Amino acid sequence: MTALDLPPQPAPSPSSKTIDIIVSGFRPTGKLHLGHLHGTLTNWVRLQDQYRCFFFVADWHALTTGNVTAETIRESTEEMVIDWLSIGLDPDKAVIFRQSDIKEHAELHLLFSMITPTPWLLRNPTVKEQARELGFIQSDDEAEVAKIHYGLLGYPVLQSADILMYKAKWVPVGVDQVPHIELTREIARRFNALYRPIFPEPQALLTEVPKVPGTDGRKMSKSYGNAVLLSDPPEEVDAKLSRMMTDPRRVRRRDPGEPADCPAFNLHRLYCTPEEIEYVSHGCRTAGIGCLECKKVMIRHVLEGLEVFREKRAYWETHRGDVHDILRCGERQAREVARQTMAEVRAAMGV
Ligand code: TRP
Ligand code: SF4
Repeated sequence: MTALDLPPQPAPSPSSKTIDIIVSGFRPTGKLHLGHLHGTLTNWVRLQDQYRCFFFVADWHALTTGNVTAETIRESTEEMVIDWLSIGLDPDKAVIFRQSDIKEHAELHLLFSMITPTPWLLRNPTVKEQARELGFIQSDDEAEVAKIHYGLLGYPVLQSADILMYKAKWVPVGVDQVPHIELTREIARRFNALYRPIFPEPQALLTEVPKVPGTDGRKMSKSYGNAVLLSDPPEEVDAKLSRMMTDPRRVRRRDPGEPADCPAFNLHRLYCTPEEIEYVSHGCRTAGIGCLECKKVMIRHVLEGLEVFREKRAYWETHRGDVHDILRCGERQAREVARQTMAEVRAAMGV
């Protein structure tokens, strides 16, 4: 999948609250990090003011990759929802729920599986890449791909059910998820043609995702151990960012560097004022400032930005009962829609 294959960037309707529906899910990965914040969550918080949003914890999807216990998933779900609420997702604006609370998703997945030809699944590049990363397969050869268990292979069918259940028009996701949204459209089209037009054909809502590398310069990811968690105490955020990788050319203080080749500088871009950017860029190229001094300019803003978050998180951590009430409330709202959709689906199919 290259940038050229992407569908044209949709232009979401203007100002005021429209009734366009948005659905997105997140696998329960536990506590979230800076990459999640800038990649996804800031965007969700913005969308909840403009659309009817359904945001859910994809806990069944977490089972498809194996190697997790139900207990871990439960704990991760709670921590992740606490992070969501602390960032500003608002249960009065968006429906926040847990996938496995709405069993209708499983039923719709089953019914969709009846109209999904296997080749549609076997060609999905994201699934194959995931299977490779997880060590389930060694290559993309046909014989290898045939070894992928159905849970992972059928993962995009479940995702289609998640999305079409609420008749979403837009699905805010990263580029890697675009093949799944294409499949969702194909399933919707086939269902509508075979039975009765019930489903819209949703589009991926791709937003420009700023690059947030981890402390070692690779993509920020918990599994790489290079992540700055939103819930890390200030000293730890400071310590992690202070030792974050910089332009390798700056071996000694007197060696000049190039901000464009510095992983830490991506955070400067996100957090610093134009004047500060100018100051550190010049200082870097002339070896006028040291890397630690340079990073301190950015770290101050990161810490400031996380302060309100940390206060809110401290609140939710001591009000875990309320977090569960919010999930119960989201469950009720989601179920109401899911029941309605399933009634239409069963009637259309005559099952
Ligand atoms: N597949 C998504 C991911 O791994 C999670 C997901 C599951 C999702 N169901 C969804 C995203 C529905 C958008 C819509 O990140
Ligand atoms: Fe990066 Fe700043 Fe060091 Fe330059 S001075 S390499 S921009 S941390």
